[in-house]
Amino acid sequence: MSDNLVEVRGLKKWFPVQKGFIERLVTRERQFVHAVDGIDFQIRHGEVFGLAGESGSGKTTTGRLILRLVEPTEGSIVFDGVNLASLGDEEMRRLRQRMQVIFQDPFASLNPRMKIGDAIGHSLEIFKVATGEEKRQRVLDMMERVGLTPARFFYDKYPHQVSGGQRQRIVLARALMLHPDLVVADEPIAMADVSVRALLLDLMLQLKEEFNLTYLFITHDLATAKYICDRIAIMYLGLICEMGTLEQVYRHPQHPYTQALLAAVPVPDPHARRVKRLPKGEIPNPINPPPGCRFHPRCPHATAICSVEGPSLTEVEPGHLVACHTRFPA
Ligand SMILES: Nc1ncnc2c1ncn2[C@@H]1O[C@H](COP(=O)(O)OP(=O)(O)OP(=O)(O)O)[C@@H](O)[C@H]1O
Ligand SMILES: [Mg+2]
Repeated sequence: MSDNLVEVRGLKKWFPVQKGFIERLVTRERQFVHAVDGIDFQIRHGEVFGLAGESGSGKTTTGRLILRLVEPTEGSIVFDGVNLASLGDEEMRRLRQRMQVIFQDPFASLNPRMKIGDAIGHSLEIFKVATGEEKRQRVLDMMERVGLTPARFFYDKYPHQVSGGQRQRIVLARALMLHPDLVVADEPIAMADVSVRALLLDLMLQLKEEFNLTYLFITHDLATAKYICDRIAIMYLGLICEMGTLEQVYRHPQHPYTQALLAAVPVPDPHARRVKRLPKGEIPNPINPPPGCRFHPRCPHATAICSVEGPSLTEVEPGHLVACHTRFPA
């Protein structure tokens, strides 16, 4: 068995830009949003692999590609030794039981008219795993394990009758009912109250051990990623600019973008003196990404080559990869 549960190679997703009628008459050229533009990474069995970066950098699209909720434009995804592109619809449906997803907004992902217990147990019925009393027992057991206690009390409630933190526990319980191998968690705590965020992260870590899970953890918040991830990839405009263990990326960031993101993370000590090197300007348009290094228009260290040639992701020490022409060890 390979160490990797997921292997992503040369993955691209370009979305065609919908144009208005007049625009279509004026320009014939088709335009594409380069949401994910050629990325490679592996997720090892049992690890929490983080994808971080500003809004629009392509994190959610990457997660959706792995779950094959969208088809890649190019590249491959191998899940536990199986190339997803080789699977037919029925085989993919079966494999999908082994990958589950948790979205940012638990309210939007729960049917308001379905009782909590039924929502959690829904997949057991769909995949004909258990029905009736057996389903109920399995659901009650899972509810206890995610801290929805007393489970019998919550079973017949509706999503609007419980708190935001409890709703996220419902979504977690639902994701784990079929005992998946991979959970793609897309900003899973972003909507939760600050006071319960750490509790939810701890719960996720505890469930990971209990159920032998592997997580792809998507977040724009580097403080959250630091709390939960083992390794992390920093994305910028559809590309990975730095990747490594937490120690490598947080203690010795080498890409100016990673350094800027880390400098922007708030610290609890109000007296701490820090040099803020926020990236100047806005994240550019992913329809026409800048030539050369995509970060160069915002980079304080950019030189002539940076506007011409895109740097490739290069290993600077074992397991630590950086895409920058002129590295800047912190
Ligand atoms: N279905 C789609 N059709 C067209 N463009 C899309 C589609 N989905 C995503 N995009 C575009 O692809 C780019 C990457 O989007 P994505 O949602 O992956 O980013 P993200 O990193 O998850 O951002 P956020 O932090 O805001 O969730 C964005 O420019 C987005 O507008
Ligand atoms: Mg997203």
